[in-house]
Formats: sequence, structure tokens, C-alpha cells
Amino acid sequence: MGLELKGRTAVVTGASRGIGKALASTAAALGMNLVIGARTKGPLEETAKELAERFNVRVLPVVCDVTKLSDLENLVASAKKEFTKIDVLINNAGVSSQYPFQDQPLEDIERLAYTNYLGYVRLIRLVIGDMIKDKSGAIINMVSGSTLCDPLPRNFIVYSSLKVGLKAFSKGLFWELRDHGIKVTSIMPGVTDTDLTGKLKEISNDTSRLMSTQAIEDAVRFALTVPANVCPLEISVINQRTPWTAPVIPFKQQHPGK
Ligand SMILES: NC(=O)c1ccc[n+]([C@@H]2O[C@H](COP(=O)([O-])OP(=O)(O)OC[C@H]3O[C@@H](n4cnc5c(N)ncnc54)[C@H](OP(=O)(O)O)[C@@H]3O)[C@@H](O)[C@H]2O)c1
Repeated sequence: MGLELKGRTAVVTGASRGIGKALASTAAALGMNLVIGARTKGPLEETAKELAERFNVRVLPVVCDVTKLSDLENLVASAKKEFTKIDVLINNAGVSSQYPFQDQPLEDIERLAYTNYLGYVRLIRLVIGDMIKDKSGAIINMVSGSTLCDPLPRNFIVYSSLKVGLKAFSKGLFWELRDHGIKVTSIMPGVTDTDLTGKLKEISNDTSRLMSTQAIEDAVRFALTVPANVCPLEISVINQRTPWTAPVIPFKQQHPGK
């Protein structure tokens, strides 16, 4: 990409609220028509109506659970039926949970894996055939700032390790697809003010620790509008006050022997 985006088509998953809705707005502000997906019909249709009116673009809402292969296939087929082809995929739908690992239900582990890793990889596999034929396209993967922490944040290790896997997959894909004229970018947002983080007690008590979605919108706008021969591989957008990304050894910590 990096050429004219107006009139092209972006598919955005998890776009009924939060970061996905903000990124769908960014794509619409660039003149792109949208196919937006999420599980819950009411909010998805409301978002579609709102964005179509606000940006004067066409917006197709498709109810889609990214954990289900048949829903992903239907999302791609619906997008192609309405707009012929998909130029940009913004892979964003995600869920989160916090548990000490020994207490984490097996069903929760599976839900995270199917949503935050497999959902992304499968959808990319379904869209790239046409992008390769077209020698054009852009894929944005919503990773997480938690991947920058080592060790991974306590109580967040399943979520974060799946995002580490996604980031590694995305980086590998960047090299494979650049030969076909397709761009692949990972976004690593810090803790952002959405429903997903609304329940993090230690953070939401101090709202200055939450970013707005604006910085992520700016990062994605950058990724989609750089010149055609350039691709930002990874963009981290971290709130200066996110506790997890503080130095592992606090500045004031004394050596235990002293
Ligand atoms: N917020 C943060 O601090 C933060 C930081 C780093 C990375 N992220 C990542 O950013 C992405 C978006 O997070 P957010 O904070 O915007 O979350 P959010 O406010 O909870 O919104 C999640 C969106 O994804 C949809 N969704 C959830 N599960 C789905 C599924 N199985 N299939 C299809 N759609 C699904 C939701 O709609 P339905 O429930 O109706 O399906 C909703 O539209 C996630 O990948 C998350 O890991 C967030």
C-alpha cells in the first residue's frame, strides 16, 4: 500500500468497540470502505451505522466469532461479495483474562488461544491468496505491549505468551510476504482505556496509566500511509506510566547484600 487508499476495502475484526472501532474509524477517515466483525450483532450494527454516516463510506457489518473457522470463511466471502477484494486486514479481535496460572481454567486457556492466536493466523491464511495475486495489500496485527516485558507480566502469562507467538509469526510473515508486495505490521499498544482493561483494578484506579486509543490510531495511520517501498515492521506505543513496562530492577532497589 502507500498509494491511494480511498475506495479500497479494509476488514477489521473486533470492531464494535475499543481499539478495533477506533482503527475502523481511522481506515474510514482515509476513505476506505469497511467490513467490520464482532460476535454481538446489536453494537456491531450500531458501529457500522455510525461510521458510515460519520465518514461517508460503505460499512458492512458481519457477525463473526474469530474462534470459528466457518465464521472467518463467511467474513472473507461476505467482504468479497460486497467489495470484490480485501486490500487491508486489521486483525484486532482479542480477549484477556488474569489468573495465577494454577487457577486458570482450561477452557479459558483454550478461548485465549483460539481468539488471540489461531483467529489471527487463520484469517490471514484466508485473505493472502488474493493479495498475492494482486501483489498488493497490508496486514496489521494487534499484538500487545505486554510482549515487551521479560519475564511476562504476572497473572497474564497465557495471554502474553500467545501475543509473543503472534508477534514472532507476524515478523516471519513480514519477510515472506514482502516478496509479494504485501506489508505486515505488528502494533504493540500499552494499557489502553477500553472495556478490556476496565477491570484491571491496579491500573484503572489511576486513569493516567491508561492511554486513549488515539496513539494507536496514529500508529496504524502511519503504517498505512508510508511510501509503497517502506513497511513499519513493529510499532510499540507505550504509556509512560504503564507499571508492567517499568524497569525490571527498580531504580532505587539496593543490592540484597548491602
Ligand atoms: N486495551 C488494551 O490495553 C490493550 C493493550 C494491548 C493489546 N490490546 C489488544 O487490542 C485488541 C482489542 O482490545 P480492546 O481493548 O479494544 O478490547 P475490547 O474493548 O474488549 O473490544 C474487543 C472487541 O473484540 C470483539 N471480540 C471479542 N472476542 C471476539 C471473537 N471471539 N470474535 C470476534 N470478535 C470478538 C468484541 O466484540 P464482541 O464481544 O461482540 O465479540 C469487541 O468488538 C485485542 O487483541 C487486545 O489483546 C489491548
